[in-house]
Amino acid sequence: MPKLNILIYPDPRLRIKAEKVTKFDKCLENLVNNMFETMYSADGIGLAATQVDIHKQVVVMDLSEERNSPKVFINPQFTVKDDKSLYSCTEGCLSIPGFHEEISRPEKIIVNYQDINGKFITEEPEGLLTVCYQHEVDHLNGKLFVDYLSPLKRSRIKKKLEIERKKEF
Ligand code: NI
Repeated sequence: MPKLNILIYPDPRLRIKAEKVTKFDKCLENLVNNMFETMYSADGIGLAATQVDIHKQVVVMDLSEERNSPKVFINPQFTVKDDKSLYSCTEGCLSIPGFHEEISRPEKIIVNYQDINGKFITEEPEGLLTVCYQHEVDHLNGKLFVDYLSPLKRSRIKKKLEIERKKEF
């Protein structure tokens, strides 16, 4: 399975809104497999298709320490159940390597998504899954965790990553 190239902030392609998946076929299965391969080899816990420059509503995740609990979310959405109850978590992102920042997000959400076969699922996630799910749905909407930071902090991160990228060439 080929590994995919992960886009790095501030690549403008990270801002493209992903389209709904309508075909649950072999092609989708291949994409999901390649995304898992890419996520595991980068040591990440979640990856949205947007991050590998494929603008479809597909997310893969594995929050287990043993790296043996793969989860797939197709066309993921959520509604906030209680917007007063927030959960703070230090977030990182494979598209923003080397930076970790504390972000507050709604703690109680109801998620709606489809599985790899197109079956509709509704759940109320808990803990880290709640945060990670919102982080990945943000990616599909062209949003990144740096968007929650102050403009000053965000531009510092942007500058550092741009310098890093120049060094690579
Ligand atoms: Ni991310």
